[in-house]
Amino acid sequence: MQKREITILGIESSCDDTSAAVIRNGCLLSNVMANQEVHRNYGGVIPELASRAHQQHIIPVVDQALKLAGVLPQSLDAIAFTCGPGLLGSLLVGNAFAKGLALSTGAALVEVNHLQGHVLSHFIDVPEQQLPHPAFPFLCLLVSGGHTQIIVVRSYFDFEIIGNTIDDAAGEAFDKCAKVMGLPYPGGPVIDQLAAQGNATAFQFAKPRVGGLNYSFSGLKTSFLYFLRDRIAGNKDFIEAHRADLCASLQQTVIDILFDNLIRAVGQTGIREVAVAGGVSANSGLRRRLADESARRGWKACIPELRFTTDNAAMIAIAGYHKFLQGATTGLDVVPYAS
Ligand code: KG4
Ligand code: ZN
Repeated sequence: MQKREITILGIESSCDDTSAAVIRNGCLLSNVMANQEVHRNYGGVIPELASRAHQQHIIPVVDQALKLAGVLPQSLDAIAFTCGPGLLGSLLVGNAFAKGLALSTGAALVEVNHLQGHVLSHFIDVPEQQLPHPAFPFLCLLVSGGHTQIIVVRSYFDFEIIGNTIDDAAGEAFDKCAKVMGLPYPGGPVIDQLAAQGNATAFQFAKPRVGGLNYSFSGLKTSFLYFLRDRIAGNKDFIEAHRADLCASLQQTVIDILFDNLIRAVGQTGIREVAVAGGVSANSGLRRRLADESARRGWKACIPELRFTTDNAAMIAIAGYHKFLQGATTGLDVVPYAS
């Protein structure tokens, strides 16, 4: 008997990227993204501007995703959308659009947690490519602009957070330190690029330790700020003269902090299948470090393709697919949540 085809449209609008993707039986048919340049010069996302830009982008982005996939709206089995966490005004755009489309097409509605989407990005299949999927149970270091967590993933739906940041996220540390150096938002990718030409041992910054497997990044940001303030007092061109070294040293510090706990988490749980996910997992230094630690320690490492690291709808569609298979659909009264 032929396997039934299940086609899911995913919609992601939790922060500043509007994205739509179509997945059929777990395999990606399209993944379209509209970034919002409007925030670049503000040093961060302006929620009001983000909601407006989502309103402008959502129809063309969904339309293009369906066309690229060669799928008619009426043939969708389900529409999966990010329900939270994120910026409420941004989430509302995707939420309302998904409901309208579900109503008009008769497709089921599936609400997806953004963080679950990041973790499940490891299970996206791509035509004519063999992407490795982690085996359960695995550890996932989820590092993004809003979250830094170590998660034991026992199944598609059984997650246990065993480490969490008590203040800033790793991506936030990159973005805030970049702002201090006068670099545009988002700072992470810019720091990554500049770090490639710098010396990672040029400068030392604080590596705060908090209890258990938890993280703290606000101390790093403060230490970076005070360090620069002192150096600039003696040389007003200090940042410009040392930009690459500053970026390389800062990146190294963030990676060291992340891996200290990750290595301890492997020791404590005995789980040697280790994945990373979220926007910061695009960082080239972090990707190298995971490969190195895995080779040295005998871990089996899983790193998503770059396009599935930062916010994207493919990860929402794959999470929606697995929820749909479980019958986990939702009603039209579902409301987004910010945290
Ligand atoms: O997952 P994501 O797109 O959105 C959230 O859910 O937060 O992550 C965005 C974060 C930003 O802080 C951005 O600076 C960071 O990911 N990021 C990077 C890199 N690419 C994105 N950080 C370091 N190196 C990168 N290459
Ligand atoms: Zn994200």
